[in-house]
Amino acid sequence: MIDLISLREQIERINADLKQGIDRLTDRSALEAFRIEFLGRKGRIGQLFRLLGQIDAAEKAEAGKLLNDLKTSANVAFEERRSVLENTILQSKIEEEKIDLTLPGVYHPLGHRHLLTQVQQEIESIFLRMGFDVATGPEIESEYHNFEALNIPADHPARDDWDTFYIDETTLLRPHTSPVQIRVMEKTEPPVRIICPGRCYRRDTQDATHSPVFHQVELLWVEEGLSLANLKYIIELFVHEFFGEGYEMRLSGDFFPFTEPSVQMHMRADRSSNWLELGGAGMVDPAVLTKVGYDPEKVTGFAFGLGIDRMAMLRYGIDDIRTFFTNDLRFITQF
Ligand code: PHE
Repeated sequence: MIDLISLREQIERINADLKQGIDRLTDRSALEAFRIEFLGRKGRIGQLFRLLGQIDAAEKAEAGKLLNDLKTSANVAFEERRSVLENTILQSKIEEEKIDLTLPGVYHPLGHRHLLTQVQQEIESIFLRMGFDVATGPEIESEYHNFEALNIPADHPARDDWDTFYIDETTLLRPHTSPVQIRVMEKTEPPVRIICPGRCYRRDTQDATHSPVFHQVELLWVEEGLSLANLKYIIELFVHEFFGEGYEMRLSGDFFPFTEPSVQMHMRADRSSNWLELGGAGMVDPAVLTKVGYDPEKVTGFAFGLGIDRMAMLRYGIDDIRTFFTNDLRFITQF
């Protein structure tokens, strides 16, 4: 037999244990284990219910009410604790995953084409519109393409200007884009109409207008009936397209082993500024045409080589060629 008094005592003990233990629980599984200890099928509260049968009939209703109240208040206590727990779990998750929208972002600066690349592409598009193709050739060039085929034999004094960075006995970094003329003519029957922009190398001492690395654009047009007048027209047309109105240009006599006659081209922004040499040009020497198997009695041609860096300097008012190659963003980002 069990009486109400001892039942009450047991209820109080359960309540006390529950109150004491429940607030210490900090995770879901501990809370669930604790709940099963009290409210599970074989839990402490369930065991008390099982004692009901032993209670005196007169006290049964009272005892039942006490036990039901215990069960209800235990359920409430667990629900409260659960919601507190869920809340703190949620809060710490929010805390962990918080994104601070005021933090500065990761900056990925977008690059842009170097001024020389922009200028080169503009030159290409001008000549493409005129019907020229863009050709390319190796920067490590054979002595044959760079010299012999261009009518510059080994003992020719003109070699001095271009005899520069050798890789081995017979290959060198090309000092001009003219060897590409040979490479194109070797592969193509006339008519030939190409330009070739690209990097060149010379043993020049660096100064404001010289750099051991620089850029040229070569032009070659071979066909029946071409004369120096056509050359002058093409150069003038190009200068007009690239520089616009107001620039002055002049051609004067020069010498290149691979052209005959040969000229050099100068430009200036206006009458008060200095002439700047842009490059050389001329009618392709018959000896060069013969070397590539063309018949100089049938076709004639002209070629020029212009300094891209110099043209960019003139157009953008840049007074030192070295600024192109030092990668100073304060310079590069201006264009
Ligand atoms: N290759 C010559 C130089 O670099 C320029 C040139 C090209 C001259 C084509 C005539 C014809 O100086």
